[in-house]
Amino acid sequence: MRILLTGKNGQLGWELARALAPLGELIASDRSSLDLAVPDQIVSAVRSVRPDVLVNAAAYTAVDQAETEQDAAQAINAVAVAVLAEEAKRARALFVHYSTDYVFDGIKDTAYLEEDLPNPLNAYGRSKLAGEQAIRSIDGHYLILRSSWVYAARGKNFLLTIRRMLREKQELHVVSDQIGAPTSAQALAHASAELLRRHTPAGSGASALRFRRGRFASKRAMRGCAEAEDASPIKPWGIDITSLPMHRSRSRAAGARVLMLSHA
Ligand SMILES: NC(=O)c1ccc[n+]([C@@H]2O[C@H](COP(=O)([O-])OP(=O)(O)OC[C@H]3O[C@@H](n4cnc5c(N)ncnc54)[C@H](OP(=O)(O)O)[C@@H]3O)[C@@H](O)[C@H]2O)c1
Repeated sequence: MRILLTGKNGQLGWELARALAPLGELIASDRSSLDLAVPDQIVSAVRSVRPDVLVNAAAYTAVDQAETEQDAAQAINAVAVAVLAEEAKRARALFVHYSTDYVFDGIKDTAYLEEDLPNPLNAYGRSKLAGEQAIRSIDGHYLILRSSWVYAARGKNFLLTIRRMLREKQELHVVSDQIGAPTSAQALAHASAELLRRHTPAGSGASALRFRRGRFASKRAMRGCAEAEDASPIKPWGIDITSLPMHRSRSRAAGARVLMLSHA
């Protein structure tokens, strides 16, 4: 099996490069060898590699910055994704793509399911949803894995930020109005490899790939944290949540799972 991977130096891409290597011949690219902002580069890369599987771990991931760089976010998360999906279909390759809980508005009280209607609140979420929609309308063989709060030992993420700040400060004040399901990039990469190993069940439809619950994954866990608050150096940030920018949803109840949309 020949696998073409984009974004090999990102949090997830770095883990995927390791998890996918045993599956076959892996051609892993970064921005310098394949710039997704240049559609012609995508076309020639896919046509010269002729992959059986195309795995897209590259994305425009600067959530706040996307508000002022909407064209850039759309170019990488929607336009380039459409070109990748077209080229994967042309090569008869399976296209594996990653999306986000930001396609939802976070209003739901319980964990999101594949069939829930997306309603992104911010430019990043809109660009990721546009990418999903392009893949689905191109209608080749695809897997879209929606994840949330991805963390890894490298890169920029919530876990590393808190760890760094705990080294620098005696006490931290952190927003306490968001609920998320931290997802290990390593676990997501291994799950992706496992899906490829099992050759992905044929037929269209959606199913959920469950992950072990993360520490902050549920409201119950959040309550537990609140009870332990007095002893913890991490304190909730006592701000009026209505003053938060609208593009950050207040509740991010994705649940400790990865949502998988597929068509094989
Ligand atoms: N991080 C999260 O919390 C989170 C949550 C849910 C879903 N996701 C999704 O999971 C996937 C992986 O995210 P991640 O956390 O691994 O992101 P990341 O660490 O920010 O990595 C993104 C990668 O994309 C590359 N990239 C950006 N623009 C590019 C371009 N024009 N051409 C080629 N490569 C480009 C970056 O390269 P450079 O290093 O050169 O910039 C980087 O290596 C994304 O689809 C993301 O939307 C992430």
